[in-house]
Formats: sequence, structure tokens, C-alpha cells
Amino acid sequence: MQNIFDQKYIELYARDITTAKRTEAEVAFLKAVIPPKTRVLDVGCGYGRHAIALAKSGFEVVGIDSSEYMISEARKKASEAGCSPTFILQDALTMSFNNEFDAVISMFSSFGYFEDQRDNVKVLQNIYSAISFGGVFVLDVANKNTLLEPLLRNGENKNGIHSLSLNEKLAGYSIHTTQTFNEQTGRWSIKREWTDKNGKSHNYSLSTYLYEQDELVGMCEQVGFKLKNICGNYKPNAYLSEQSPRLILICSKDKVNKKNIL
Ligand SMILES: C[S@@+](CC[C@H](N)C(=O)[O-])C[C@H]1O[C@@H](n2cnc3c(N)ncnc32)[C@H](O)[C@@H]1O
Repeated sequence: MQNIFDQKYIELYARDITTAKRTEAEVAFLKAVIPPKTRVLDVGCGYGRHAIALAKSGFEVVGIDSSEYMISEARKKASEAGCSPTFILQDALTMSFNNEFDAVISMFSSFGYFEDQRDNVKVLQNIYSAISFGGVFVLDVANKNTLLEPLLRNGENKNGIHSLSLNEKLAGYSIHTTQTFNEQTGRWSIKREWTDKNGKSHNYSLSTYLYEQDELVGMCEQVGFKLKNICGNYKPNAYLSEQSPRLILICSKDKVNKKNIL
């Protein structure tokens, strides 16, 4: 998988969106669902904003990410914050933890990037294996319906491939953004292009699978999880398919679950 989670991603997008205030709300949400001061695995930890905050609150945290840049930023930020979660450069597809964590979190769209859906299921299997019995899994992805609504309403549709281009301001730059959604593959792509103050052109693009609620719940249940709750934001409010910004599943790994036999 090409790694697009680099410095450009942080400077252009994450810095303005994943603010300290937002992180605080997300961490408060996590603390309400994870047993206090337990062992947590943060899958797709990025630059460590949840892992560091949880470590500061007494959780024992391991963060994994497949982006070298993100892991190095996470280590830097943890050292600045004076705490010591463990950060490992590791793809979730090949991780092999075994009943080691009381909770696994996958926050802010860190899931669903593999083109082959079997790989995304394998990631869920690996997460299931990483959690001990009685543990919790929090999976937070974008709500497909609200994310796609402007694109489906205003975009052009050519044989089930929807696209929409617009100009927007992000991080002080004028950005040309093109979004695409392919009905057949279920994949959403976004490409951003801009010119910096020295006249140098940049671009940044990513593509991910977007899930319907039933599909994502089905995938989690397929690997053995039991669905406990679905939230639509971090307040938390219940998930409303046409309104919620997020689709957040809270699942548990219970002792007796026959579906675990794959
Ligand atoms: C949108 S960022 C969110 C980062 C972080 N969870 C946060 O909330 O700030 C998605 C992250 O997931 C990581 N990621 C995506 N697929 C991954 C995989 N298969 N294994 C490990 N990390 C992955 C990316 O490298 C990126 O850092």
C-alpha cells in the first residue's frame, strides 16, 4: 500500500482538523468506553494524539502505524509530552498480537484502505486476536452517507462514477480538490493540488473504501466481535445514517462466540 500519510497530510489536512479540542473530545469518549488504566492498542495511531493522551491518563498504550513519518512524529510528540507509549512501525495487515490488550482503538478513519476487501477483513481478524476476552474494540470511520452527500448531489455521474471538483482554502493555501466515488467498487478518492508561496506545485491524494453501517457491523461480527453500540459522533450521540459525521462501532470480544471459528 502506498503511504500517503506523511508531512503533507499533517500540514495540509490534519493540523486544521485534528485540533487539540477535537482530540480532547475523542479521548473523553474513549475513556468512557475503555476500562481505566488498562492496556490499549492504537491501530493506525498516526502521530499519536490518542495514544499520548491515554498514556498521560495512566493507560499502557502501544501505537502501531504503517507510516514511518507518522511513527517518528508520534515518538517526538510523546517525548515532548514526557510520556512513553510504545510506537511501532507496523502494518495492521501483518501484526500478530495475541490476547494482549484490554482494548483496541482505530480512530479517525484508519481502516479500509486496502483495495482487496479480504485484506480489510484480515486487519479485523488481527485486531480480534490482539484483544483479550472481555476486551473492547472501538472502530471510528467516516459516515459514508454524509461524506458522499455533497458529491452525489452536486457532482457529475458518468456510469456510476461520481466526481466533483472545487476550490477550497486549507492551511492558508488555495487548494483545487477533486473527489470521486465509484459505485461499483465502493471506493472514494480525493486529490488535492496546490502551489506554495515559492510557486512549487504539490499534490496529495488518497483512496479508501467507505462502509455502510450493516456492512461494517457484518465484517466485525464475521471475525467474532459482538456489537455493543453505534455512535455517530464523540459526544456521543446515537448514529443517524443521514446526519452523523462519523460511524463509530463499539464491539466486544466475548468468551463464548461461535462465529469466531472462521
Ligand atoms: C487518517 S489517519 C488517522 C491517524 C490517527 N488515528 C488520528 O486519529 O490522528 C490514518 C492513519 O492510519 C494509518 N494506517 C492506514 N492503514 C494502515 C494499516 N494497514 N496499518 C497501519 N496503519 C495504517 C495511516 O498511516 C495513518 O497514519
